[in-house]
Amino acid sequence: MADESVRAGAVAAAAEALRRGDLVAMPTETVYGLAAAAGDARAVGAIFLAKGRPRFNPLIVHVASLAAAEAIAIVGGEAERLARAFWPGPLSVVVPRRPGAAVSDLATAGLDTIAVRVPSHPVAQDLLAAFAGPIAAPSANRTGHVSPTTAAHVVADLGDRVSIVLDAGPTPLGLESTIVGLADGEARLLRPGAVARTDIETVLGRPLAAPTPAAIPNAPGMLPSHYAPAAAVRLDVSKVKPGEALLAFGKTLPSGAERAIATVNLSPSGDLREAAANFFAGLRNLDRCATAIAVAPIPDEGLGEAINDRLRRAAAPRR
Ligand code: TXA
Ligand code: MG
Repeated sequence: MADESVRAGAVAAAAEALRRGDLVAMPTETVYGLAAAAGDARAVGAIFLAKGRPRFNPLIVHVASLAAAEAIAIVGGEAERLARAFWPGPLSVVVPRRPGAAVSDLATAGLDTIAVRVPSHPVAQDLLAAFAGPIAAPSANRTGHVSPTTAAHVVADLGDRVSIVLDAGPTPLGLESTIVGLADGEARLLRPGAVARTDIETVLGRPLAAPTPAAIPNAPGMLPSHYAPAAAVRLDVSKVKPGEALLAFGKTLPSGAERAIATVNLSPSGDLREAAANFFAGLRNLDRCATAIAVAPIPDEGLGEAINDRLRRAAAPRR
C-alpha cells in the first residue's frame, strides 16, 4: 500500500466493511488483528467463530486516542500514566469498563473490566479514524496457532473469514502488546509483550506484580499450550538432534547446528528487538519443513521475556 490514494481507498472500504458487520484484517505494529466493530455483537461473535476462540476469552479493544479510550473505559491513576507514556504503541491496559460503554458484552466476555490500547501503526490509526469507533481485534490466527506477522499468515489461517486484508507488509515489532492489569489496585504484568517490563516499571516507579488467577480470565493466550506450531518444540538446546530444524539466536550456535535440516537465526548479532520481529515468521517457516524444532537459549531480559513466554507455550504439551 505504498500509494497514498490506494491506501486511503482500501482503508475506506475496510471501514465500510466494519460498519456492515464484516471482519477485516488490520495491521498493527505488533501483529495483524482480526477486526470487528466492538459495539456490534454479531460481528464480535463472528470473531470468536472464525478463530475457534472460547467465548470466555475477552478481546482487546482498539481506539484512536486516550480520549476515545475514556469513552469506554476508566483510565485514571497509574493506567493513565502508562497510557501517556506508551500510547500510541504496543501496551494494553486492563481497567474498569465504563458503565454504558458502546462495546458488546461478548468482546469483554461479560467482565466489568476491559483491555484497551491505542495502536501506533499508521494503517490501524487510519482505520480507527475512518471507522470512528472502537475496534475489537484479537490476533488474526486460529486459536492456539502461531500469531500472524504478515498478510500471507492471515490468509493462510483465516483467508475465507475476512472480507478485506489490509496488507501493510511485515509488522514492525512482531510480538503482541504487553498487557498490564490495573483493575485491582495493583499493576500486574498479565502478558509480557512488545514493551519490556523494565520500561513499564520505570514509568510506574515500582515493580510490576505477578498476575493472580482472578486477574486472568481463563484465557488460551495465558494457557500453557498456545502459539503452537505443528512441529514438536524443544527449548534451551545445547545440541541439535538428527532430524531437527534449528531456531538460533546470536553468534554462538548449539553443537550439531550443521546437521539441522533448516535453520532460522532470529538475530545473528544477538539483538532481541530484531529477534522479536522475526520470531513468529521464523517459527512458521521451520514448521513448514520439519516435525521437530530445536530452540537455542534466548536471554530472558528486555524483549527476551516475551519471546521466552511464547516459546514456553509453543513447547508445552498439547491439549
Ligand atoms: O498486540 C496485540 O495485543 C494484538 C493486536 C492485534 O492488537 N492483539 C492480541 O489479542 O494479541 P489477543 O486476543 O490475541 O490477546 C488478548 C489477550 C487475551 O489473552 C485476553 O485474555 C486478554 O488479552 N484480555 C482481554 N481482556 C481482558 C480482561 N478484561 N482482563 C484480562 N485479560 C484480558
Ligand atoms: Mg492471540
